[in-house]
Formats: sequence, C-alpha cells, structure tokens
Amino acid sequence: MAEEAKNSGGTGAVVAAQSHSSAEAAGGTAVIAADAVQNPGLPPHRKRVTDLDPKKAKSAERTVYTLFYISIAGSLGAVLAYMFFPIESGDPMAIRLHTLFVGLGMALGLLAVGIGAVHWGKALMADHESIDMRHPVPSDEETREASAEIFKVADEESGFSRRSLVRNSLIGALIAFPLPGITLLRGLAPQDRDPVQMLKHTMWTKGVRLARDPSGVPIKASDVTIGSAFHVIPETLTHEQFSEMTLDERGGSDNFLDAKAKAIVLLMRLDQAELKELPERESWSYDGIVAYSKVCTHVGCPVALYEQHTHHLLCPCHQSQFDVSEHAKVVFGPAKRPLPQLPITVDDEGYLVAQSDFHEPVGPSYWERLK
Ligand code: FES
Repeated sequence: MAEEAKNSGGTGAVVAAQSHSSAEAAGGTAVIAADAVQNPGLPPHRKRVTDLDPKKAKSAERTVYTLFYISIAGSLGAVLAYMFFPIESGDPMAIRLHTLFVGLGMALGLLAVGIGAVHWGKALMADHESIDMRHPVPSDEETREASAEIFKVADEESGFSRRSLVRNSLIGALIAFPLPGITLLRGLAPQDRDPVQMLKHTMWTKGVRLARDPSGVPIKASDVTIGSAFHVIPETLTHEQFSEMTLDERGGSDNFLDAKAKAIVLLMRLDQAELKELPERESWSYDGIVAYSKVCTHVGCPVALYEQHTHHLLCPCHQSQFDVSEHAKVVFGPAKRPLPQLPITVDDEGYLVAQSDFHEPVGPSYWERLK
C-alpha cells in the first residue's frame, strides 16, 4: 500500500479514496460521499401583511416617508445646533452642548434614513425570489434589453417612480445628510478673520527685544558667544502685556500659546567667515548672529537640535536638516523651503532687537504659495 501511495505521488488522495470504499475517486479529486446532505430547497413562500392588506401597505409607506422626513429634520437640526450652540473658548459647557446637539442631529439624520430604507425594502418592495442566469461578457442585445426590462420591473415593483412622496423624501434626506459635515468645516477657520493674514504675521515688530525662552530675560549681543544657541521669544510676550495688546500686536492670535508658537525663534552665532548670506539679507544678521523661526517648514514641529560643528539644525519629527550657515536652506529631509529668517540688529543698550516681523509666513511649506 505504501508503495502504491509513493507511485501515485499523492498520498493524501489515495488515503481519502480508501476511507470511502463506496465512492469512486481518482487521484487529485474530491470524494463524493453517497450519503451527502440533500439540498433542502427553499422554504415555502409566505406573503407579508403588506402584500395582503392595502391598508397595511399604506401604513408602511407612511412610516417610510416619516422616517425620511425625520432624517431631514435631524440633519437640519445639526446645522441649527452648530449655529445656536457655538463653541465658546474656555467654556466647557458650551463645548458639551455644541457636541451633544450637533452629534444628536447627525445621528438622527443617518439613523432615520437607514431605518427608512430598510423598512421600505422589507415591507413595500416586491417579495419574491428570482434567478439571474450568467451570460458571457459583453452582453448581447437581447440581454441588454432584458436588463432594461429588469430595471423597469424593479422600478414598478419598488414603486420608486410611483410613490413620489417616498422617493422625493429619500432624495431630500440624502441631500440634507452631508450638510452638517460641510457646516462643521467652517469651524476649522476663525469666524471673523482672514486665516491667511493670521498665519502671515507674528508678534515680532521693529524694536522688540529678543528674550530667552521661557524666562523672558532680554539677550545682549555680547551674551551670544560663537557656537552658542538660544531659544528666543519676543520680550513683549508676557501674560500681563499680552492681555493688553490689540489683535494686530498679538500677531493675529487670540491665544497666548498660539502667539508664542508662531513667534518662537532660534538664535545662533557663527564665525562670520563661515556665514554665506544672501546679498539682500546681509543686513539681517548682527556680527555673525542670526535668528531663524523655530517652526519646521515641513509640518510645523519645533526645530530644536543645533549641531555646532556642521551648523545644522535638525527637526526631530522627520529629520529635516537646515544649514544655518547658508540661510537655513534644507540639506536633508522632507521640508521644502528654508526656515524663515528674522531680521535683527542691536539697540542703543546693546540688546538684540527685531528689525521687523518675518518676511514670509512661518511654518509648513503649504503657505509658501502665499508669499
Ligand atoms: S516637521 Fe520637521 S521634518 Fe517633519
């Protein structure tokens, strides 16, 4: 027997055939057992109450379009909730109410249209089984005509064209449902200000001293030795002064931390012989001291690692590297543009001060197109 199995090259098939002596089997084919379970066929068809009683059918129809109207109401309710329960900064109750009512509206919109569609299918659409024969592709003319006929029959049986109230309310529900999603997008931008202008400006203005982060102690040019690096904020960035500033003076930010995140700067001093400055930026540095935005131009992480020997700044998020000796150009990584440079000089007392704001938007490269 072992010899037979070896010769056949299919041990499993031979063993299987021997275990079913009454079945005919060949190597590599399945064994058909004589006692296989018979196909029980379809259960007898039972008509639904809506098939037997026109009143029940009418009642089901009312239920379906009522559900679709409820869906419309839910979706529109979410839009209204967005307007009447706005998110107030710093008010947790406002956030809770906003989330609750917008969420309830959207849930109702989706749930009701789903239940309505299922109920329509179960209670009103034609209830019989049909066999769809397979045909070669492409279909011949006769098949296409048959398909068109099927659509026609389906339309007649579902009542899609005939039950105009159901159909129209479904279309209305499906159109209304995406509205809350579109409305929510508006919340991504400030309500009353141009987001582009907000991103374009920071708290730096002419004469603002460069101060250490987080102490706020202003930095003198003489404090910055060759090879050193400072994390810098505007001297005016204190909670007391910030609360008294106008929106423009805050660089368009309502929030203290937002303003700080945009204005944060790295300050380094290089040997002037190693500094390769662009001709139009020669006046932007002071005695080898340069200042660059700390916000990575890839997706905005803080570029916080400075390698003194290579003059490279490294962003720890995706390893972009910027060469400080060459106007912070990108030398490695996914960032697409140099770090924006803050023009600096010194005041009468020897403190480092900004000559102006940045000349381009800080942060991810997307905004480069707005330069
Ligand atoms: S955020 Fe800096 S490299 Fe990605």
